[in-house]
Amino acid sequence: MNKEHTYKCSNCDYKGIKWLGCCPQCKEWNSISEYIPSIKNSTDIELTQLCDIQTVSKKRMLSGIGEWDRVTGGGLVPGEFLIITGDPGIGKSTLLLQIAHHLSNNYAIFYFSSEESLDQVKLRAERLNYCSENLLFSDQANLDNIISISQTKKPNIIIIDSIQNCFTKESQTIPGSIGQLKESAFKLMRLAKEYSITILVSGHITKEGIIAGPKTLEHMVDAVFYLQGEDKWNMKVLRSIKNRFGTINEVGFFSMGSAGLEEVPNINNQLLQDISQNPGSILISLIEGSRPLLIEFQALVLPSKYGMPQRVISGIDQTQIILIAAILEKHLKIPLNNNDLFFKISGGFKIKSAAADLAIALSLLSSYFQKPLTAKSLALGEISLTGHINPVNHISIHIKEAEKFGINLFLTSKNQNFKSSCKNIKFQHVYELLTLFD
Ligand code: TYD
Ligand code: MG
Repeated sequence: MNKEHTYKCSNCDYKGIKWLGCCPQCKEWNSISEYIPSIKNSTDIELTQLCDIQTVSKKRMLSGIGEWDRVTGGGLVPGEFLIITGDPGIGKSTLLLQIAHHLSNNYAIFYFSSEESLDQVKLRAERLNYCSENLLFSDQANLDNIISISQTKKPNIIIIDSIQNCFTKESQTIPGSIGQLKESAFKLMRLAKEYSITILVSGHITKEGIIAGPKTLEHMVDAVFYLQGEDKWNMKVLRSIKNRFGTINEVGFFSMGSAGLEEVPNINNQLLQDISQNPGSILISLIEGSRPLLIEFQALVLPSKYGMPQRVISGIDQTQIILIAAILEKHLKIPLNNNDLFFKISGGFKIKSAAADLAIALSLLSSYFQKPLTAKSLALGEISLTGHINPVNHISIHIKEAEKFGINLFLTSKNQNFKSSCKNIKFQHVYELLTLFD
């Protein structure tokens, strides 16, 4: 054994030759303990060819909550370990309770509420009108006890709300510290894989410091879902950031009502409700996860009153707007440089896509000339620095969705090929965009 590194900090991985009360690297107290590197005996290892590995097809556990089932990649998998994270108060406990209730129709579930007392959980369950004999609750926060009862009783699913409030005796640090989180996650992963128990845990996003954020756990779990709030309609978006059993960036929409989180399966209906035919407004379709969203861009171009023109841009990278404005200025000789530019995206979405270039250009021009674009028109195209308008990928998915909602005019690149019964205006260069504002 290497005599030089026999003590290790459970918080920051500092290694030293003697025990210290306070870690010299991260300043954590009581986090240093003796470290015995595990030495594996290579003769114990059995190596197998791929064709000899037995695979058992695992049946997905569907909850019946469509948005949840889609984000998970078609239902939970036995032995999966996933974390749901988000700001405090966003609805993690509500979502976990709803999933537990729905899945308890077919599966045995243990719900460990380490954060809230059982009567708080009961109040929430009563509010949601839930009671099921397959769903059992405990306020146990000792992870070793949670693991041991799960090994004995073997439920199909265990839920821990939240992992930051659990503790394990192996780690000397306080609940929520990095050492505790890593140790807990490691033990839970072993439980999930060895006993084929699906484990769902919640975790808060917190600032860096002694209470560790769930970022630490991301590489240790099978799936990470973020629950985020959108500005409008009190909407919550569940997004998969990592998923070993499905696609990433898949999104599910919910709205928080008096009966908990309700699914919003047809999000585009809501998005299109308040769209107006005003100068500066245009529709665009962007793929989030596996589905296209119809989103409105709103631009406002005003002559600047001050020496330094303002750029107030939200929901999209500022450089993308400034770049398109510069291309228009250069090729169309429009003095956008002397104008204040305001830019917003409906619904509070955050967009990152080069396919939005054409829509940005058209919304800026429409506001500059104070002329609205034809109602129900949708723009898709990339713009190069030379002013050429280029085609985008997966156009047929966008067109199909847009047609469902009565969009009847598509504005695209000249080189974009697709089939549609709707009107289509194609452009090769930004010069040609001016024909829309004659
Ligand atoms: P919660 O699920 O406890 O959030 P988290 O676990 O992420 O901290 O609660 C989220 C909020 O939702 C809380 O302020 C209460 C509210 N809420 C409703 O509006 N309707 C409901 O039916 C429930 C259960 C909660
Ligand atoms: Mg909670």
